[in-house]
Amino acid sequence: MVNRITVVGAGNVGATTAQRLAEKELARHVVMVDVVEGVPQGKGLDQWESAPIEGFDSRVIGTNDYAASAGSDIVIITAGIARKPGMSRDDLLTTNAGIVTQVARQIAATSPNAIIIMVSNPLDVMAYVALRVTGFPRERVLGMAGVLDTARYRAFLAEALDVSVRDIQAMVLGGHGDTMVPLISYTTVSGIPVTQLLARERLDAIVERTRNGGAEIVKHLKTGSAYYAPSSAAVQMAEAIVRDEKRILPCAAWLQGEYGFRDLFLGVPCKLGRRGLEGILEVELSAAERDALTQSADAVRGPMALVKM
Ligand SMILES: NC(=O)c1ccc[n+]([C@@H]2O[C@H](COP(=O)([O-])OP(=O)(O)OC[C@H]3O[C@@H](n4cnc5c(N)ncnc54)[C@H](O)[C@@H]3O)[C@@H](O)[C@H]2O)c1
Repeated sequence: MVNRITVVGAGNVGATTAQRLAEKELARHVVMVDVVEGVPQGKGLDQWESAPIEGFDSRVIGTNDYAASAGSDIVIITAGIARKPGMSRDDLLTTNAGIVTQVARQIAATSPNAIIIMVSNPLDVMAYVALRVTGFPRERVLGMAGVLDTARYRAFLAEALDVSVRDIQAMVLGGHGDTMVPLISYTTVSGIPVTQLLARERLDAIVERTRNGGAEIVKHLKTGSAYYAPSSAAVQMAEAIVRDEKRILPCAAWLQGEYGFRDLFLGVPCKLGRRGLEGILEVELSAAERDALTQSADAVRGPMALVKM
């Protein structure tokens, strides 16, 4: 375990993330920071009181003060507003850019060596705001989207094939939005290409459902957006870093020429280890997948231009 992981935002995603981090004992101290007086304190104390039953020794602390989070090894940012029915992720842009700017300044001042995992939406743009405001190198600013999108895709495939989720290997690239790029050509079931097991129309329907996976949950919940699977995804990234696993996970990374793109965050296969982003794997893409990735990059550049950094 590392010494300290901070989760900024003690809302649905943040609080669930803190609990998962503690239950996996990924840090000696799990600190939840939020602007609302009492909420992080109450949730943190409640989680800590579950420790004797769950049997974890991570201390969970909730606070409104970044002093308690100083020297964090990892900071997971979930602060901001979430989508309501009818809203796109980009509708959150201005409000969340302001919030993330304020949060990133505090992180840079109190945890200058931290690795940031951005969760707040619109994801790829918020990761850019954090990179610029903190001045951290790209190795230490990552966005969580691909792990979640891939999990949704794998869950739907496992359901359609009636097989274990563990046997579905897949990768969803691109931006975290309607233009995400699930790679059918790299989707296998224990090494068997999925195209041998499912008809193209069914695969296309699953890809479409994956693209709308977030909106499907928003439609059910009405007052907020998904948080169980999103928190699992953020914690999987943190775990790969804490345990220096060198896992290959789809994450939003600041591209510097990879896949032909420069100066934007986009979901690509990343190697995660103790130093954060330890490499980007460039895989061959079909012409259609390359086109889809270009569209995805265009969809990220639009809102990026609206936040003046
Ligand atoms: N990347 C993804 O795949 C993904 C998935 C799910 C949710 N999200 C995003 O995560 C964010 C959080 O979602 P949620 O469901 O937890 O929302 P939520 O409303 O439940 O929680 C957000 C929390 O942020 C806090 N907050 C606001 N301003 C703050 C500040 N300046 N400093 C610290 N905390 C602050 C609020 O008080 C609130 O507790 C949203 O932007 C949502 O769109 C991203």
